[in-house]
Amino acid sequence: MIAIHFNFIAYMKKTTQLYEGKAKKVFLTDDADLVIQEFKDDATAFNNKKKGSIAEKGVVNNAISSKLFTLLESNGIRTHFVEKLSDRDMLCRFLDIIKVEVVVRNIAAGSLVKRYGFSEGTVLENPIVELYLKNDDLDDPLMNEAHAVALGVATFEELAVLKNRAEAINMLLKTFFAERKLKLVDFKLEFGRHNQEILLGDEISPDTCRFWDLETNEKMDKDRFRFDLGGVEDAYSEVQRRVLELD
Ligand code: TMP
Repeated sequence: MIAIHFNFIAYMKKTTQLYEGKAKKVFLTDDADLVIQEFKDDATAFNNKKKGSIAEKGVVNNAISSKLFTLLESNGIRTHFVEKLSDRDMLCRFLDIIKVEVVVRNIAAGSLVKRYGFSEGTVLENPIVELYLKNDDLDDPLMNEAHAVALGVATFEELAVLKNRAEAINMLLKTFFAERKLKLVDFKLEFGRHNQEILLGDEISPDTCRFWDLETNEKMDKDRFRFDLGGVEDAYSEVQRRVLELD
């Protein structure tokens, strides 16, 4: 039975394109419960104001995300990940995406520094979890639980699950990256509903996380693209090497 199941998945093919985002395309398959995420090399920043491309980013992000989803699943965190199908394609469960971006911060950087005046690099004694409305037209505004509920994007119960899940994921990923000599500065998660359950969706990659080298604090993520720091491809492939090295 198991062999038949895996065979079936290996032949899963894209049918209609459901959606094209900034970094991924999503395709339907012959199974109504499964979609294929195709990781692109396109890169945008500042809500599409800066556009470019990072060579082989799609391949790298699919490899990193697949590894991290597998790690989380093996630690009891349910995700949409089913299987890595090829270099750029990931088979996933079809989610009803919750229009909330959950950001977890361990070290002050990015918009936390801009918005509140923290010095970049300040270690946050308690990780900060933030909610943003997933709405490009509004530039993904920061919001609280009451905003999200009033907007009808989630219930208070769902938001409590998201926050707990984000904190549990942070604990697991912080340890995983520390073992690979990377500081997990902050990251963004997206979740979706699936058969009465909430699953982690989207991707976890240098596009959606900040990673700093443990010893040098060198930035090894999309900030290199955002702020034209150079060495973007090298940083992404070094993160991939470290993520996969202990396999
Ligand atoms: P921020 O400091 O710009 O708010 O970003 C926090 C984290 O969220 C950082 O790791 C990058 C990630 N992120 C995304 O994945 N998508 C986005 O659209 C934004 C703004 C941030």
